[in-house]
Amino acid sequence: MADPQEVLSRRVQSALGAAFGPEFADTDPVIRPSQFADYQANAALALAKRLGRKPREVSAAIMEHLDVSDMCREVEVSGPGFINLTLREDWIATQVQSLLDDPRLGVPEQSPDNIPLDYSAPNVAKEMHVGHLRTTVVGDALARTLEFLGHNVVRQNHIGDWGTPFGMLIEHLLEVGEDSDEAQLLTTDPNAFYQAARTKFDESENGSDAFASRARGRVVQLQSGDEETLRLWRKLVGFSRTYFNKVYGKLGVTLTDEHLAGESTYNDMLDAVCEDLEGKGIATMSDGALCVFLEGYTGREDKPVPLIVRKSDGGYGYATTDLATVRYRVDTLKADRILYVVGAPQAMHFKMVWATARKAGWLPEDVETTHVQIGNVLGSDGKILRTRSGEPVRLVQLLDEAVERAAEVVAQNRPDLGEEDRAEIARKVGIGAVKYADLSVAHDTEYTFDFDRMLALTGNTGPYLQYAQARIRSIFRKGGVEPEQARGEISVAEGAERALALKLLGFGPVVAQVGDLLQPHRLSTYLFELAQSLTTFYEYCPVLTAGSDAERESRLALVSVALRVLVQGLDLLGVESPEYM
Ligand code: ARG
Repeated sequence: MADPQEVLSRRVQSALGAAFGPEFADTDPVIRPSQFADYQANAALALAKRLGRKPREVSAAIMEHLDVSDMCREVEVSGPGFINLTLREDWIATQVQSLLDDPRLGVPEQSPDNIPLDYSAPNVAKEMHVGHLRTTVVGDALARTLEFLGHNVVRQNHIGDWGTPFGMLIEHLLEVGEDSDEAQLLTTDPNAFYQAARTKFDESENGSDAFASRARGRVVQLQSGDEETLRLWRKLVGFSRTYFNKVYGKLGVTLTDEHLAGESTYNDMLDAVCEDLEGKGIATMSDGALCVFLEGYTGREDKPVPLIVRKSDGGYGYATTDLATVRYRVDTLKADRILYVVGAPQAMHFKMVWATARKAGWLPEDVETTHVQIGNVLGSDGKILRTRSGEPVRLVQLLDEAVERAAEVVAQNRPDLGEEDRAEIARKVGIGAVKYADLSVAHDTEYTFDFDRMLALTGNTGPYLQYAQARIRSIFRKGGVEPEQARGEISVAEGAERALALKLLGFGPVVAQVGDLLQPHRLSTYLFELAQSLTTFYEYCPVLTAGSDAERESRLALVSVALRVLVQGLDLLGVESPEYM
């Protein structure tokens, strides 16, 4: 399959070369979808200046050398000098026909990059909040998409599994008993456990109980590698892992234990990070702490903001670990590019870490690092989503509620189905709705969490797209044909048929674009538009009751491609496609 926009670009470029000389042959012909034709080439406007000629003249010169008769049925200059390009129906039909035999549905296979992809990254003994939900869902969609494009994605779940709070958590674990119900809370309601430990700690600081000082002692033991302390720490991490996996299982994300690479993974590298930085003169002592001062990073009153790599008490922090992480990803994972799907507020942190790593020679120029910034999820009050009592929303509860609400809708719409069937559909629809809501807006913008909107069967929602593919399946069931058997010759006569076919050609390009720009919402928008062209298509183009056998065969083949594109597209987003709903 050929991407029309790309083919047209190449054709216009060679016309540019022929018309104005070889130095113009790599000018961007600015091909864009158009209201007045399928595409518009806007190159003449910019070229006119460069050539000192009128845009319409430039367009006319391009047209003289433009050879697109095999793919366009109409080429004309309009307005100030746009070239309107209208594709031939038989060309479109041939292209869609080739998708029928293409397991990749037009998605290009790119030369593989090693891509460590840092996403999800919740913290041990803490609740995964909706922010983590979003980094998990967006990261997983990127992992799936980049993999489909042919890359070697190395998922890295940088969980927060180290630091001073573990002293208090371990002591609390000992007090409640390792096998107690309270300890089990870590696998279901980690915040409750964390809060209990925190309260004990704070109260003992003000009172006579020695809990706080025991907790501090524990931190020292943990850092010095005391075996029994490490065992208890591993126990805590294990409980949290059970909890994370419960959430990942519900969400249907591709993260497993083998992708865990928490902060503690890098403990052995931290001394060297600091020594090297100090040795190279990149880090200096300031108020007892070892700091990196980078040009251009200043705070209030132009005071330089340091990246602290060793605190005055000798401890290492979040930044030190991330510096070690960069070294590991470059040296061991052989990264070609590194992606971090993390909340937007950490932008400054990453910039400083990478700048430091570049200075130290740990991050070569040709290894690109990108922070895929994740915006906040808001409640209906416009503030960060919390429960009515002001606590962070429990993710498990949120997902369960989505499924429950979906179940109500399914029960209403499909009373004919058995209970198990309905429950399975409700799970796919409920979870799909939550994930899709995250993926349908740009990852760096805020959005309001709204069950009613995300579960609606109309609009740019998960259920709408799931329904679009279920509807195609039901056509095949009614027709007594398997989608795979629809292999008729495709022709595109009707306008709605033509529009649908053309839309299908856009799948490959949009997936490639998501991989380049790291913006899954572009795929969502595409799928939504595809579903809309299907709706219009059904209005004008009956499939099973088409006018002739040939037309019926053609339409069945066309919707079979649409079905595969929808299912594949939703799968790249991590959204499941129910057989019926
Ligand atoms: N655990 C951190 C948090 O919850 C996110 C970690 C992101 N990844 C990283 N390499 N720093 O905010």
